[in-house]
Amino acid sequence: MTAIDIATLGEDVPLLEAIRTTRAIRRLKPDPVPDALIRKVCEAGTFAPSGGNRQPWKFIAVTDPGRRRWVADRYRPIFLKYIQPAVELAEKDPDFPERKKKMQRAAIHLAEHLHEAPVHLFVAGWTRRGQAQDQALMPAVMNILLACRAVGLGASLTTLHRSFQKECDEWLGLPEGCPTTALIPIGWPIGKYGTPPRKPIDEVLFWNRFDAERESDVRQGGAA
Ligand SMILES: Cc1cc2nc3c(=O)[nH]c(=O)nc-3n(C[C@H](O)[C@H](O)[C@H](O)COP(=O)(O)O)c2cc1C
Repeated sequence: MTAIDIATLGEDVPLLEAIRTTRAIRRLKPDPVPDALIRKVCEAGTFAPSGGNRQPWKFIAVTDPGRRRWVADRYRPIFLKYIQPAVELAEKDPDFPERKKKMQRAAIHLAEHLHEAPVHLFVAGWTRRGQAQDQALMPAVMNILLACRAVGLGASLTTLHRSFQKECDEWLGLPEGCPTTALIPIGWPIGKYGTPPRKPIDEVLFWNRFDAERESDVRQGGAA
């Protein structure tokens, strides 16, 4: 790969375009990602809002191959045990939407290749009750996903590691009261960024008051 200028990389991507084209990229090349680039996307995370501006986040970038395998060896069996049966049913169902099948296949690919993702970025945060605090940390997670999009890295939000969270948090060396919320596997994408499938805005935007009649009309496939 030719040398990249990390300081300027991604700085010219229009914000709204990045928002519209940030999708879960679960197929990643095993090629290494410069530490400085991971630092840059995590720095974007630090610009997220937080209650009282407490900035509760800690980012742990796991890059060591043996340590990534440790994570993958725990993620994979849990994913396959709980999610693959549903995926197999969907594959046999001709009415199951192809778009969702594609997403499931990509999620299986991630589970089977997680050890190859060059960076396992864990997002953890301080909390009073010892529980993972999604609402406090997800804004930072979203900033990181957007920053990855801007600099051309592939990334996706996962939470499956919470099934072995206690073991994982101890293994990461996190103190009590600072649990992990998210695991973001990051690497250079095999596929391309693109507009993800989303409901049209007029299906989900209401003015002044939620309109249940229009909502039921939309659900039944009628005119909005
Ligand atoms: C709270 C939360 C938890 C998620 N956990 C996982 C996960 O454990 N594994 C995974 O592959 N994707 C996970 N996702 C990603 C969603 O599946 C993804 O956002 C969805 O498939 C839409 O993808 P798209 O943006 O490419 O359309 C999670 C997303 C959210 C918001």
